[in-house]
Amino acid sequence: MDGRDLVRAVKDIGTERGRRALLSAWRHRRADAVGLPRRGAERARVPGLLTGTEPRPGGGVLRFARSELLVRVTVGGAVFWGWDGAGPEPSYAVVGGGPEPDPRAVLEPDTEGGWRVVSERVTVAVSRHGAVEVRTPGGTVLRRELPPRWWEPVEGAEGAGARWLQRSKVPADARFFGLGGRAAGPRLRDGVYRLWNTDPRGGFGPGDDPLYITMPVQVVVADAGTHLVFHDNSWDGRVTLREGEEGAGSGADRPGSSELRVEGGPLRCWVLTGTPARVLQGWSGLTGAAAVPPEWALGYQHARWGFGSAAEVRRVAAGYAERGLALSAVHLDIDHYDGHRVFTVDEERFPDLPGLARELGERGVRLVSIVDPAVRAGDPVHASGLEVGAGGAFVRDARGVEVRGEVWPGSCAYPDFTDPAVREWWGGLYEERLARGFAGFWHDMNEPVSFAPFGDATLPRSARHAMDGAGGDHREGHNVYALAMARAGWEGLLRLRPAERPFLFSRSGWAGMQRYGGTWSGDVETSWDGLRASLALVLGLGLCGVPYSGPDVGGFGGSPSGELYLRWLQLGAYLPLFRTHSALWAGPREPWEFGPEVEEHARAVLAERERLRPYFVTLAHLARRTGAPYVRPLWWGAPEERGLRDCEDAFLLGDALLVAPVLECGADRRAVRLPRGRWYDTATGAAYEGPGQVLLDAPPGRIPVLARAGAVLAVRAGTGGGDGAGEGAGTGAVTLEAWAPARGRTGGGVVIRDPGPGFETGEVERYVVRWLGDAVVVEDEAGNAVEDVVVRGL
Ligand code: GLC
Repeated sequence: MDGRDLVRAVKDIGTERGRRALLSAWRHRRADAVGLPRRGAERARVPGLLTGTEPRPGGGVLRFARSELLVRVTVGGAVFWGWDGAGPEPSYAVVGGGPEPDPRAVLEPDTEGGWRVVSERVTVAVSRHGAVEVRTPGGTVLRRELPPRWWEPVEGAEGAGARWLQRSKVPADARFFGLGGRAAGPRLRDGVYRLWNTDPRGGFGPGDDPLYITMPVQVVVADAGTHLVFHDNSWDGRVTLREGEEGAGSGADRPGSSELRVEGGPLRCWVLTGTPARVLQGWSGLTGAAAVPPEWALGYQHARWGFGSAAEVRRVAAGYAERGLALSAVHLDIDHYDGHRVFTVDEERFPDLPGLARELGERGVRLVSIVDPAVRAGDPVHASGLEVGAGGAFVRDARGVEVRGEVWPGSCAYPDFTDPAVREWWGGLYEERLARGFAGFWHDMNEPVSFAPFGDATLPRSARHAMDGAGGDHREGHNVYALAMARAGWEGLLRLRPAERPFLFSRSGWAGMQRYGGTWSGDVETSWDGLRASLALVLGLGLCGVPYSGPDVGGFGGSPSGELYLRWLQLGAYLPLFRTHSALWAGPREPWEFGPEVEEHARAVLAERERLRPYFVTLAHLARRTGAPYVRPLWWGAPEERGLRDCEDAFLLGDALLVAPVLECGADRRAVRLPRGRWYDTATGAAYEGPGQVLLDAPPGRIPVLARAGAVLAVRAGTGGGDGAGEGAGTGAVTLEAWAPARGRTGGGVVIRDPGPGFETGEVERYVVRWLGDAVVVEDEAGNAVEDVVVRGL
């Protein structure tokens, strides 16, 4: 038991749930004792020396004394390699096996007995000992993977598989990002990062790791270039990172290093190189384009665990409307369920949900439903799941007995979403939700959680999964459980309501989850540290290809001061998912509960989000088309500017805006680091020249937001006030806002308007902004001057 286990155990002692959780944890331990292959004596192995090669499209196979390596450079420059016969498929992350091999990339001899594949964008070199180097076309090394090492069971340990270790070197100046959602990020400092999706239970701060979404995706930024490396393996693992040092010791550089240890499964990886924009574009090509949320999901949303009744929901929604505060959706948590059971409703406290949905809908407010994966044993949903396929829909242990865990409704079974028949059955269950009037879905507890006072609060590692026909156990299935659940929900909703894009976001997930929607912070603690962690998560996940996310504004579990609440709201307004949420035991989050001053400031924040909603629509479509996240680190356009790599307290929102949230108690001004070029303070209009650092005012009512000179963005005119009636309260027309370029320069921007609730992709409108004498004009692609534009920064 570690400290956290102890706290959990003490908290649960004496409660009925605690007693059942204890029993369930013991049962899981027993299941593993009999069901897990034993790790007996192991033999270590390295590839040995190169013995031969065989050309293949885009590269070839290199044979070593004790292993073989497949190397393939694909069209567009993504590089794949796999050891011991591992190919790109099957994969939960990569769609369709990845791009085609590049026909012009061939395997040829390199120096010192090694071989290489040279292509237009990247060179891969393999040494005769099996080290793999990724180089720029100019020959600079971006990453060097040392020969891997395996530990495989000696005879008689069937099914144990080989563990492996991959050590890598990166340039001394490199910075690491990614690995999923990490509270201590976005820059990943020296330390060990586990790859095992975990509910930190009870809330988390920057010191807590791992969290709900882990993935073996690293984005590495160095002077030599940016690269993304993805070890396509869902097994439990650990990454140890160590940043390098320049001029260390004798004056020589010490490179940065990454060590990946994985408990089993294939040793294979993808590497993408180029500018950050190119790398993320390649990544979205590899793992699938991000779902575009419906337009309303880009507005402000209010969630609460503990609404208690429909009357309470009405009171809160009316509170926003009466005050003219824009509200786009209300989220119902497990308390609207009957006895916390998924796909049910407590008809006493929430009678006539369709009626409530209609009533709210008239004000432009949607209803979103939580969906937990665990199904209470004995429920009608459980009974219907037992009819699926030959053996029922639920995860079984190695002996074939259905695995039970303890969650909100009591003793539960877990659908095996890695089985296509189970996904189909589960997807059909959303029909009940749609009939109740729900417009969107919030997947929770899908790491998956099984309460436990000790050990891992999830399924036993020996639990069996279909793994889409391959068969496997929870050691491999755990990290992709929520990804497969998201797929089930997404595909079900597409079948049930084909004309509308589903709105889905999920607490847990894995590489590729963006295909089915987004995520949120989970139970971030109510503190200034929690506020900081919220931004780290959104930035890190965006770099892993998951662009739509946001925190529980105000933090999950506590009662924020008015100041903390307001600062959180001000940050959240510039993040894709803008939602307040809080726990049963937490204080209120309605803006008016914090007094008139906070309410007034909150009004301005919500109005600004409404004004920017068309810009968010553009960013959502760009994320789908290009893989670029809405929220980007400051180094996005200038990874070579080292100061920007270390800046963790500000971000770019698309190309046009730079947002510098206040993350410290009592601050009324803050230093803001500026990338190259001219930036306008959007509140004062003052212009600043980057690169550099400026000190800007951040009074309680606002945080510094800067616009890039020459930017053009879509905004909604005349929003913010009114009675909150109509579509999401945003009734103004979409117009353009342009920021004057520096004299003698031009600028521009793209706009993609909301094409409606379906799957139309929207047209890309491109605008150019330039000086004409003493005036600034904005022109469309045909060179016609645009009338409907507000030019600022003059
Ligand atoms: C989990 C979720 C939280 C939700 C709660 C009850 O803690 O992270 O958002 O309110 O469960 O469903």
